[in-house]
Amino acid sequence: MEHFNPDVLISEEELAIRIQELGNAITDDFAGEELVVICVLKGAFMFCSDLLKKIHLPIRLEFLQLSSYGEGTVSSGNVKIEMDLSGTIKGKHVLIVEDIVDSGLTITTLIKMLEMRSPKSIKLASLLFKPSRNTHPVTIDYLGFEIEDKFVIGYGLDYAGRYREVPYVGVINAGN
Ligand code: IMP
Ligand code: MG
Repeated sequence: MEHFNPDVLISEEELAIRIQELGNAITDDFAGEELVVICVLKGAFMFCSDLLKKIHLPIRLEFLQLSSYGEGTVSSGNVKIEMDLSGTIKGKHVLIVEDIVDSGLTITTLIKMLEMRSPKSIKLASLLFKPSRNTHPVTIDYLGFEIEDKFVIGYGLDYAGRYREVPYVGVINAGN
């Protein structure tokens, strides 16, 4: 087994504090409403799981998987739905939960596709945002952290399918 110690960029403690704040904001903003939460697989699974525990509203959880990256670290520009929602979002308040907005291509494409299904509203929560790389502007209603232009892993995010289980957001150092 190769050496394994990604550098910490955002610690477990920092994640927990910010996610509590986001959960509070979402709970307040949607008070009295029901919410369909769409967890964008695979990267958002850990963030979504922790965030949901901090939202005190009636929720229907849905999963959706997109593909755009393949094995590389740069978007191929080709976004498609690999696995679709199991239920309808027509007339519902929808909260999309994403891991990271980089170029913004993935999420702007997804929002367009979901808007065609006539939800009552669509809001976006993203754990991370890389402003320096954003070419497709999008409003992130609930943002965890802005980060600089580094390829990050952990807390759900992968590099070539690995590192999703790392409990913090990290960067792979040269020794790995
Ligand atoms: P975008 O379409 O360029 O915004 O890319 C968004 C998707 O690319 C995210 O949902 C991630 O799956 C992936 N991605 C972008 N940057 C990173 C990164 O630094 N680490 C891991 N995955 C990333
Ligand atoms: Mg993703």
